[in-house]
Amino acid sequence: MCGIVGYIGKREAAPILVEGLRRLEYRGYDSAGIACARNDKLTIFKSKGKVRDLERALPERLKGTTGIAHTRWATHGEPSDRNAHPHTDTHERFAIVHNGIVENAAQLRSKLQASGVTFRSETDSEVLAHLIGAMPADTLEGRVRGALRLVTGTYGLAVIDAERPETIVVARNGSPVVLGIGDREMFIASDASALVRHTQSVVHLDDGEVAVVRADGFETSTLDGGATAKKPSTIPFTDESFDKEGYSHYMRKEIAEQPESIRRTLSGRLDTRFQTTHIGGLEMAARELLEIRRVKILGCGSAYIAGSFGAHLIEQMARVPAHAEPASEFRYRNPVIEQDTLYIAVSQSGETFDTLAAVQEVKRKGGRVLGIVNVVGSTIARECGRGIYLHSGPEIAVVSTKTFTSTVVAFALLAIHLGRIRDMSTAHGSRLLKALEALPSQVEEILAMEPQIAELAKELAAHDSAYFVGRAAGYPVAMEGALKLKEVSYIHAEAYPASELKHGPLALISPDTPTVVIMPRDDLFPKNVSTLEEIRARSGPLYAITHRGDPLPVPVNGILEVPKSEPELDPLLLNIPLQLLAYHVALAKDRNIDQPRNLAKSVTVE
Ligand code: F6R
Repeated sequence: MCGIVGYIGKREAAPILVEGLRRLEYRGYDSAGIACARNDKLTIFKSKGKVRDLERALPERLKGTTGIAHTRWATHGEPSDRNAHPHTDTHERFAIVHNGIVENAAQLRSKLQASGVTFRSETDSEVLAHLIGAMPADTLEGRVRGALRLVTGTYGLAVIDAERPETIVVARNGSPVVLGIGDREMFIASDASALVRHTQSVVHLDDGEVAVVRADGFETSTLDGGATAKKPSTIPFTDESFDKEGYSHYMRKEIAEQPESIRRTLSGRLDTRFQTTHIGGLEMAARELLEIRRVKILGCGSAYIAGSFGAHLIEQMARVPAHAEPASEFRYRNPVIEQDTLYIAVSQSGETFDTLAAVQEVKRKGGRVLGIVNVVGSTIARECGRGIYLHSGPEIAVVSTKTFTSTVVAFALLAIHLGRIRDMSTAHGSRLLKALEALPSQVEEILAMEPQIAELAKELAAHDSAYFVGRAAGYPVAMEGALKLKEVSYIHAEAYPASELKHGPLALISPDTPTVVIMPRDDLFPKNVSTLEEIRARSGPLYAITHRGDPLPVPVNGILEVPKSEPELDPLLLNIPLQLLAYHVALAKDRNIDQPRNLAKSVTVE
């Protein structure tokens, strides 16, 4: 949700900043801009649109070895040239790029206007530039500190001073900032993907920290000036991880990577001797795990839906009551935090603001929380302090696919672990471990069904609206299928528990409204056949996602049959064709698949 980048060193900053913005574009792509400091002057270019539009507009003369840049996801003020960052103070001496929300922007704006300041944009961020310009301090650092003391809200902030281009001052509160350490050059970014091309040695700022960054190093301190000690860590991926490798879209590439990303999530975690799982980052002994009476899973969007898969896994495998809730709802309803509940925060990016706030609420009230996170060293991972890393590798497409699947695999690992210290038998544990090991090749089989899925997608693409229905563990599959379809194809898609159709939504079933029915061949199969009948009686087109087996007793317009796993893991496989379905519908409709309109990958605002 907005990306910031900075560079200070011996090279020209502009090409490095533009390259960094391209990497961060998944965080927002409404507008982009860049500022370089040189010869006591700032040179600024910014425009509505994508980074490539900015790049085309950049002149050769944009020189300077100190610079900052921004790619925006609009919160305050429409996407436009004037609302694009960087923003400057009245005298155009200071330039800022900001990710986050200044909550008291309206009051600060009025005060600044009363003192004669003219604003050039509608953004909340511009107040930061004017406050920094108005501070009486001698140093840029002093000005930034002074300004931030007046601000409430969240920020990942980078500031340059035309008259003192030897430093960039950065600050963080609620929005991520990473410093990359080079050879007499330093990089700044909202996440490490923007700087891995130049260095793998990074430092993550913590909330409330300010850093003064020079070409030859940096110092960090709290907002009040107390020095803080930082230890560099190494980014666990390389620049090559960001290649599209011949795929037309990152979404397609990431779907195809799933056999490998599942293997990575499983790697070293299956214990075939005791038919259980090892989860190194759990840091909870069996005795503590046995005290758990309930599990509460928190996440947003697909992470919440993966949590719903996880809740089923934990209930089925460990027989511990488990429930998933959108983190955004949880944090606002003054939740009761229980000592014998295990709270689990799920987040691919590890930066989703609502999920982070939910974790902080749990911790404030004395609850125990662990994270299931992809990005190593991210804010939620650090806030939780323990949990399971997915090791899926970078996910660039805005919609999550491979990390969704890996999250479900991580839940399966946890559920087996919890189950084996309770009532799960060795035989059951053994069956589940074998089923987990078989997943990568089963996913490969499903990926090979792509031509058939693409044909079916052409039919779905002709409709404006679709239902996805399922029962019990099939319902989260329907939820994720509907979310993926609406995100990338912009077709209205709604998920419903199949049993609830007759309590309302059947009114909308007609030849114009197709329904995708998730119907594993399990105990509930006959019930799902009844659902097919109900829809067929209203002439609704039907698409069944099921297992290989006898012909369905009801004629359907399309059928996708996936390999069978253990019943607990079936939903994971039933979800894979729905990813390809959404992808191919979006392709047929010529959508911007990797960067759907109005979305951003990492939602670091409320
Ligand atoms: C959907 C999608 C989003 C994210 C959500 C949470 O395809 O990607 O719904 O799942 O914004 O993001 P993370 O997992 O980074 O917390």
